[in-house]
Amino acid sequence: MQPMEIKPAVHWVGAIDWDLRDFHDYLTPRGTTYNAYLIIDEKIALVDTVKQTHFEEMLTLLKQLVNPDQIDYIIANHVEMDHSGSLPLLLEIAPQAKVITSPQGEKGLRRYFKKDWPFQTVKSGETLELGRRNLQFFHTPMVHWPDSMVTYLAEEKLLLSNDAFGQHIATSQRFDSEVGWDILYEEAATYYANIVLLYGENVKKALAALGKLDIEMIAPSHGIIWQKHRPEILKAYQKWANHQTEPKTVIVYDTMWGSTKKIAFALQAGLTEAGIPVSMRCLKTNHISAVMPDVLEAKAILIGSPTLNNGLLPSVSAFLTYLKGLRPKERIGFVFGSYGWGGQAVKEIEEVVNFLGWSQPLESINIQYLPDPEELAQIKATGKKLGEIIQKEA
Ligand code: FEO
Repeated sequence: MQPMEIKPAVHWVGAIDWDLRDFHDYLTPRGTTYNAYLIIDEKIALVDTVKQTHFEEMLTLLKQLVNPDQIDYIIANHVEMDHSGSLPLLLEIAPQAKVITSPQGEKGLRRYFKKDWPFQTVKSGETLELGRRNLQFFHTPMVHWPDSMVTYLAEEKLLLSNDAFGQHIATSQRFDSEVGWDILYEEAATYYANIVLLYGENVKKALAALGKLDIEMIAPSHGIIWQKHRPEILKAYQKWANHQTEPKTVIVYDTMWGSTKKIAFALQAGLTEAGIPVSMRCLKTNHISAVMPDVLEAKAILIGSPTLNNGLLPSVSAFLTYLKGLRPKERIGFVFGSYGWGGQAVKEIEEVVNFLGWSQPLESINIQYLPDPEELAQIKATGKKLGEIIQKEA
């Protein structure tokens, strides 16, 4: 790869991780990038670094532009190691560089690396003069960690947004216009659903603060740079942060001997009859992180499990743990399952749906052994009724 000048004096010097398939248990079939940006003015600033495994890649690009020991500032927008992992190696080469970060960032980096680097903390809104250009920092706590901040370059109308607006896509192309919107939307939604969903209120605050800035380009720390589709991605973030959904459903389930699957498909038949699109997500064939984009978009989430050993099937249990962590709001929930004796799985799912604060307009279904044709007809009717409720609420 070569460095790429994305705005006058601003160069992409990141790394492309073509082989990453698991980002803390979020599957990334398209890989990812770690984006770092070098700004060359009277002072030289590097905004973010890359995962330590890719340090040499970043260093090679840096050396094509400057002597790394000329770097005056390293902006650490975020402590997480995909962006700060190369700090120790870089600071060995550029020991004079000041590490600019939020107060939480300094605490995190000191705790993580146990190094007494020349830190300089910045308040939200504070600026740093580079010469003709000035960097301005905005704290964006919990988008994605307490230390998170973004860097704005007013002279170039450029927002270096760190994790916000990212997508896990490895590509040699740098701009949104070079990659289709459908792929970008899919990956940005998957990223939001698996990384940012829990922090909707923080996203809203960040969007309100950043909305006052004049922004032509958003360069995140993962994936492509938003230029052509900047209005669309901002609109999508508003929608997701407000938990706005579509009149769609996702049925997430697993099955032992096929009974829960029969219930799932009878519900699907009823929902489809009511005109509601349904995404069928069996947890034997879909990773929990691959289900989350459907959860992000769907008004109603139907969750089913057979009872095993007085509780949930482990795959459903894992999904519920993940769902509780990401905490989607303002959804309609519906619970179903099957059992031989006991039947505790349905109750355990209901507890999670209650925890999430979702409405449950219809009673759960729990069938002993195998649903017979009459029961399947009733289940289909329940699916249709649920579909009509979704139509009214959407
Ligand atoms: Fe891309 Fe929260 O790190």
